[in-house]
Amino acid sequence: MKNILVTGGAGFIGSNFIRYWLINHPEDKIVNLDVLTYAGNLENLKDIEKNPNYAFIKGDITDKETVDRAMKGIDTVVHFAAESHVDRSILEPEAFVRTNVLGTQVLLDAAREHNVKRFHHVSTDEVFGMIPLDREDRWTESSPYQPRSPYSASKAAADHLVRAYRVTYKVPVTISNCSNNIGPYQFPEKLVPLAITNLMEGKKVPIYGEGNQVREWLYVEDHNRAIDIILLKGSLGETYFIGPNHPEITNLRLVKKILKLMGKGEDMIEYVKDRPGHDQKYALDWGKIKGELEWEPENDLDASLQKTIDWYKVNEDWWRRVKSGKYREYYKKQYS
Ligand code: NAD
Ligand code: DAU
Repeated sequence: MKNILVTGGAGFIGSNFIRYWLINHPEDKIVNLDVLTYAGNLENLKDIEKNPNYAFIKGDITDKETVDRAMKGIDTVVHFAAESHVDRSILEPEAFVRTNVLGTQVLLDAAREHNVKRFHHVSTDEVFGMIPLDREDRWTESSPYQPRSPYSASKAAADHLVRAYRVTYKVPVTISNCSNNIGPYQFPEKLVPLAITNLMEGKKVPIYGEGNQVREWLYVEDHNRAIDIILLKGSLGETYFIGPNHPEITNLRLVKKILKLMGKGEDMIEYVKDRPGHDQKYALDWGKIKGELEWEPENDLDASLQKTIDWYKVNEDWWRRVKSGKYREYYKKQYS
């Protein structure tokens, strides 16, 4: 039986992880430590809040006392908590450094003091920078770090701290770097849920620049299954890439796919000002996790998009509440 501390469990991937874990490992106990920023929402966990194996602590990962309290009796940490949106990091970088860098260091110190058996750090492909559009190469786990946005720079710093705590203090860490996720409960500031919910509201989908940037899209459950396998079979101190198996797709083609699946025309695209320093392409070679740990994604792109669209259709109340209030101010600032 494991006692797991999940950080950032009220966000998109973290809430899906907790649900996945309680279903697949009903003998384990989970403590969710989350400060509930704009992106953290306890509604994401409504169906499991009364599960006797689940407990919630509202608190900040940069606060040593709270983290110390949350770490009591814990043997495994899965660290999702972060400021996660690139555009917000361009508008206001400070919170990214505080949570993503300082927060990770506070957690690592506590994990060390409490002798946890595993500290799994959830990271991103963006720490490797960008691949030019005319190049076919893919990053591997030993590619050099070259982050280009305040978000990716703060995640890169966190990855370096995790690696340093392994070398210096022998903290039993693993790291995963994953590509773009989609699925239920994703805050509608990110491209896919923004596109789906805008279309449901009769609004256009904003595309930065010409939409020729390339991303790789993974269904969130495939990500969480990969973390499960890394916790079970991954080697301490190792990094594992997690990505999908669809061919390259530009943002424009992705949005056109969403339009088609939702029965909308291309007149619903609106080209807007590009993101400063917009990374052209991310591409991961995830052969290591496939070869060593026998993980592969189960959902292809079409299935992942369809399931995501279906979820947003059924859960209109959820995203309409999320899109009201403060989010409206951000939307105006970002897209005006
Ligand atoms: P999210 O923004 O949806 O959720 C982040 C959660 O962290 C929220 O619940 C928020 O309240 C919480 N949080 C933020 N600051 C905190 C603090 N100081 N103390 C405690 N809790 C805090 O993010 P997400 O998309 O679910 O991403 C989760 C993790 O996965 C992040 O580390 C992100 O870098 C990484 N990641 C995300 C993607 C993606 O496509 N979304 C891809 C690869 C990696
Ligand atoms: O690659 C993994 C990363 O994916 C995660 O680490 C981040 O937490 C997550 O936010 C995501 O970052 P991106 O910047 O790739 O995701 P986003 O959904 O913001 O944008 C995807 C692409 O779509 C990107 O090239 C920018 C573009 N875009 C985005 C928005 C919000 C648009 O064209 N229009 C938009 O309105």
